[in-house]
Amino acid sequence: MKKLVVLTGSGVSSESGLKTFRDSGGLWENFDVMEVASYAGWLKNMELVLKFYNDRRAQLKNAVPNMAHDILVELEQYFDVQIITQNVDNLHERAGSKNVLHLHGILTQARSCEVPDLIYDIGYNPINPGDKCEKGFQLRPNIVWFGEAVPAIEQAALITAEAEIFVVIGTSMVVYPAAGLIDYVPKNCPIFLIDPNDVAVPIYRHIHFIREKAGTGVIQLKDKLISDHQRL
Ligand code: APR
Repeated sequence: MKKLVVLTGSGVSSESGLKTFRDSGGLWENFDVMEVASYAGWLKNMELVLKFYNDRRAQLKNAVPNMAHDILVELEQYFDVQIITQNVDNLHERAGSKNVLHLHGILTQARSCEVPDLIYDIGYNPINPGDKCEKGFQLRPNIVWFGEAVPAIEQAALITAEAEIFVVIGTSMVVYPAAGLIDYVPKNCPIFLIDPNDVAVPIYRHIHFIREKAGTGVIQLKDKLISDHQRL
């Protein structure tokens, strides 16, 4: 089966009621990003950071996968689908996607502040000051904050370099190194981008732009890919 690699951002979860970051009314309009999503912010005000992620975790509990998540699962019947997501929500997994690589962490996990390999599944429970890892260090959200390394980026680049179809859904492509993955897409691999708004793509290649919201756009993509697939 052809390798279909999909890079997703918060836009793919927008129709599940989860806010994006930079759209009007987005998370970064209401929060200072360096206060809630940086290590310096954590040192300055741990309670504020914990509350920010506890609230998002509680909201995620009530969210459900949408059409876009579901169709990416359906496409596994025809393609070897690899999802690389910047999202920390678990909606791809809850929809049933088999191969999901998280670049920026997972909201339903906590990790030790001092021993990064100590990671715990916490479901939708809050993390509170005083919650400790087995070595006695404070727990923090298992989220990659600005200025921190993205441990999964090498694996993501390897997956992208094997793409036979590459699809970008619901990301503004302004955050690196995630946005740079597009440079690893093989020369002869078609690239599709689904977004209702303009997105500045950092490469000089032909992009099949599907100017739609994720739910509608992925339906159009599926019809196109399957009709191409049947013609083969
Ligand atoms: N369907 C598809 N795309 C949508 C929809 C929708 N229903 N609604 C909005 N979008 C698009 C917007 O047009 C925009 O291009 O989703 C994109 C969201 O962009 P951002 O808010 O910048 O979010 P994202 O690209 O996921 O952010 C990347 O930045 O803040 C950090 O770590 C955080 O992972 C995040 C990273």
